[in-house]
Amino acid sequence: MSILSGHARVAGIAGWPVTYSRSPRLHGFWLQRHGIDGAYIPLAIRPGEFATAVRGLLAAGFAGANVTIPHKIAAFEVCDTIDETAQRAGAVNTLVFGDGKIAGSNTDGYGFVANLHAHGGQPGAGPVLLLGAGGSARAVAAALLDAGAPVTVANRTLARAEALASDLPGLRIAEWDARVAVLADHALVVNATPLGMVGHAPLDLDLSRAPASLVVADNVYVPLETPLLAAARAQGLRCVEGLGMLLHQAVPGFRAWFGIEPRVDDELRRFVASDLLAQ
Ligand SMILES: NC(=O)c1ccc[n+]([C@@H]2O[C@H](COP(=O)([O-])OP(=O)(O)OC[C@H]3O[C@@H](n4cnc5c(N)ncnc54)[C@H](OP(=O)(O)O)[C@@H]3O)[C@@H](O)[C@H]2O)c1
Repeated sequence: MSILSGHARVAGIAGWPVTYSRSPRLHGFWLQRHGIDGAYIPLAIRPGEFATAVRGLLAAGFAGANVTIPHKIAAFEVCDTIDETAQRAGAVNTLVFGDGKIAGSNTDGYGFVANLHAHGGQPGAGPVLLLGAGGSARAVAAALLDAGAPVTVANRTLARAEALASDLPGLRIAEWDARVAVLADHALVVNATPLGMVGHAPLDLDLSRAPASLVVADNVYVPLETPLLAAARAQGLRCVEGLGMLLHQAVPGFRAWFGIEPRVDDELRRFVASDLLAQ
């Protein structure tokens, strides 16, 4: 445990429940690696008390906070400024405090694209098939469209895909049941559903006729290697695992709060993964 001085910078993650969050472990690793006089703590904030609690953190001199379920929408109300990443993602996951003001952003899309790069993929390499139209799909869709990729979304509930497409001009829609048929025309497929996660059914996506150049990304990171990634790897396709997205999305917040650009590398990945494997 490091000893803090009176100058320590403090940030944390606001959620309810927050006990399962890996963010304190992740940011704690970077704080220790860089010998920073600072702390990152879990902030268990009940629904309905978010605005009061966050204004209290601001008044108490916190540097900022991450925001997770169920507060990502409520966070809009408490922010003085909201950047385009949060507007486009429809959710705020990072708060930066400065000059008595709260700035909100969303780093999930950044995390997805940075992780794709780290695995040798390019967001603009060709058409993307995005499976799912929930919170993470929205952030990923916006980031990929911004990177110039043509993006098609397929979602079990068509109306939700249509709502996403009306919020993000340029987004195309495919039927959920047509996902295998349209796969051949795509350079990247992204699973942004919980399918394949521990406790959920695997994603039903036959890759046997997929082009050899297809990149397969799974946002699910428990387990680290989902059935989808295992199938893709067995077929020699390039895989992009979800844990990297979690690690990369934390970079902008850490940089803003603690003033250092942290590195996502194998040592960090092993440290966070060992906690997931212990579950
Ligand atoms: N790696 C990371 O950093 C990261 C970040 C965020 C999320 N994630 C992971 O990504 C996954 C999705 O998270 P989220 O926050 O986007 O969830 P969400 O907002 O609840 O959205 C879930 C999406 O999955 C679809 N879905 C759920 N069950 C399904 C089923 N049985 N069959 C077909 N579609 C189904 C939903 O479709 P309907 O509209 O039809 O309900 C919806 O589009 C989770 O596993 C989460 O852990 C990872």
